[in-house]
Amino acid sequence: MRSEHGRVDVLINNAGITGTFAPLERATSDDVLDVLDTNLLGVMRVTNAFVPLLELSENARIVNVSSGVGSFQDTIEFDYFDWQVVPPVYAVSKTALNLLTLKYSRALPAMRVNAADPGYTRTDLNAGAGAHDVSQGTTSTSLVTYLPNRGPRPKTRSPCSPAGPSARTAPR
Ligand SMILES: NC(=O)c1ccc[n+]([C@@H]2O[C@H](COP(=O)([O-])OP(=O)(O)OC[C@H]3O[C@@H](n4cnc5c(N)ncnc54)[C@H](OP(=O)(O)O)[C@@H]3O)[C@@H](O)[C@H]2O)c1
Repeated sequence: MRSEHGRVDVLINNAGITGTFAPLERATSDDVLDVLDTNLLGVMRVTNAFVPLLELSENARIVNVSSGVGSFQDTIEFDYFDWQVVPPVYAVSKTALNLLTLKYSRALPAMRVNAADPGYTRTDLNAGAGAHDVSQGTTSTSLVTYLPNRGPRPKTRSPCSPAGPSARTAPR
């Protein structure tokens, strides 16, 4: 890729599996490792392999395709607790992916690193049961891929500040 294209501008980590639909208390460690291997470690392997090529771009972007089922807020607000509807191990892998995304955004400040949620999209992942088609599902990914250079970045408060440790996303 380096000899043919010289650099990489955009990396989209899209690969993901739902893995086991077992409830947490019946999931085996192999079930969990299987899901984390693709949804979390896969993202790290691919990202780390591509960082040297992304560093050659003046406008590098990394987009991790995550899911609202990994959001604490969505989980509570939309009651994603039925393991037959939302596979819990998958959900946990996406929560971990969200934090991984935040960590990469701090580790690679010259790049824009974001997560996107396609929403419930008709694909093989859900045997075509999604609520909307792929063209709608890819909107969020396109949106964060083409964020302007001064788009959202994580902003941190010092752990020593009176309000204690926290992180939130805010425009720079
Ligand atoms: N569909 C939804 O409702 C929905 C909602 C929220 C988030 N997402 C996320 O969107 C992303 C795309 O999913 P999708 O809905 O398009 O599912 P999909 O149709 O099942 O596609 C998943 C893709 O990931 C690839 N993949 C899986 N494991 C892999 C591995 N170990 N190494 C390399 N490639 C691997 C698959 O390749 P092969 O075909 O070769 O196996 C396939 O191309 C996933 O990260 C998923 O979690 C989907």
